[in-house]
Amino acid sequence: MAYINGNYLKLQAGYLFPEIGRRVNEFSQTNPDAAARLIRCGIGDVTEPLPPACIEAFHEAIDEMANRETFKGYGPELGYDFLREAIAENDFSSRGINVDANEIFVSDGAKCDTANILDILGHQNRIAITDPVYPVYLDTNVMAGHTGEANDSGQYEGIIYLPCTAENNFVPAFPGTKADVIYLCYPNNPTGATATKEQLANWVSYAKENDSIILYDAAYEAFIQDAEVPRSIYEIDGARECAIEFRSFSKNAGFTGTRCAFTVIPKELSANDAEGNEHGLHGLWARRMATKFNGTSYPIQKAATAVYCNEGKAQVAGLVSHYMGNAKILREAATASGLEVYGGTNAPYIWIKTPNSTPSWDIFDKVLNEASVVITPGAGFGAAGEGYFRISAFNSRSNAEEVAQRLSEINW
Ligand code: MLT
Repeated sequence: MAYINGNYLKLQAGYLFPEIGRRVNEFSQTNPDAAARLIRCGIGDVTEPLPPACIEAFHEAIDEMANRETFKGYGPELGYDFLREAIAENDFSSRGINVDANEIFVSDGAKCDTANILDILGHQNRIAITDPVYPVYLDTNVMAGHTGEANDSGQYEGIIYLPCTAENNFVPAFPGTKADVIYLCYPNNPTGATATKEQLANWVSYAKENDSIILYDAAYEAFIQDAEVPRSIYEIDGARECAIEFRSFSKNAGFTGTRCAFTVIPKELSANDAEGNEHGLHGLWARRMATKFNGTSYPIQKAATAVYCNEGKAQVAGLVSHYMGNAKILREAATASGLEVYGGTNAPYIWIKTPNSTPSWDIFDKVLNEASVVITPGAGFGAAGEGYFRISAFNSRSNAEEVAQRLSEINW
């Protein structure tokens, strides 16, 4: 008799985005006319092609793979130095942030990294997760057996929930009980909120006082428009001793289908074994990557490196301003419709309060049926997401304008 991982049975319904996809397919089959005008603002998936500098580097790398002299087999599991050095220089050193190239681990996605990081963390950790939250953090903890069952509102026993509400500007207060591992994501998915330097500094102090680790997801940092908003947790003194940072090329450079990301683990960062002996996490993650991963492909790492050449930087800035232009259009349309609107100024997500406390899946159905627009119901991000919905600004300009028009026609 073989056994399954019974923790999977605790998971609720399907993963959020496939579940939305399932409902949209059902709608499309029963309403083919409405489906023909469908616009997707649900999952935050980019629509614009890769920057030309990346495409050029990608092609050149493919050509290298076609020649015996330049062909590459297995690459370094932790990433090619050319990419790690370009990241260290451009994302960190040039901004006065201390991160060394060999503290950067190149991977095929921040989603995978935020999930896989649990491999090197103990099962006895008390896990704190913001609510609402990017569902991967929670679901992977359920899968790893770090929780009990979910209650009626979908909250799992054993998780410390950190409510993010309009009242706290979607930056949580410290938990009442001590948390060992804390997931933070800024600019935030799904609320589009940002954390100030002071707020992050407070979390770093909390983590240092409690010997906790912050798992900091900065996948959306490129969308920050306000120079005062921190782009990396390592802008905060002391963060190197208590934080891991996750970054991605998915949203800034359009790599959602190409897959490239990286995780930073500073050499100073450590945690204890069950006997109380301290161990560096950098070495453990390197061991994990070398064992379970053979590296992101050479052409993709070449394409990602092109993000940092002058043309690449200008093209990425163009993509960011395109999506943030969409965010402005959508924000203004929602506000003009009398809705209570958050986010969308330093992040590509607009977080909107459902009118009259309508349940968010009902709003999902309403917007789908009345406007043929797919949004994401807040409840899919956690109990505290109920009463909100999210609109993604990742779209063509014409689609964003059309969605703005349709939002204004809905009888909210
Ligand atoms: C989202 O829509 O929340 C994101 O696209 C999901 C992801 O990046 O995996």
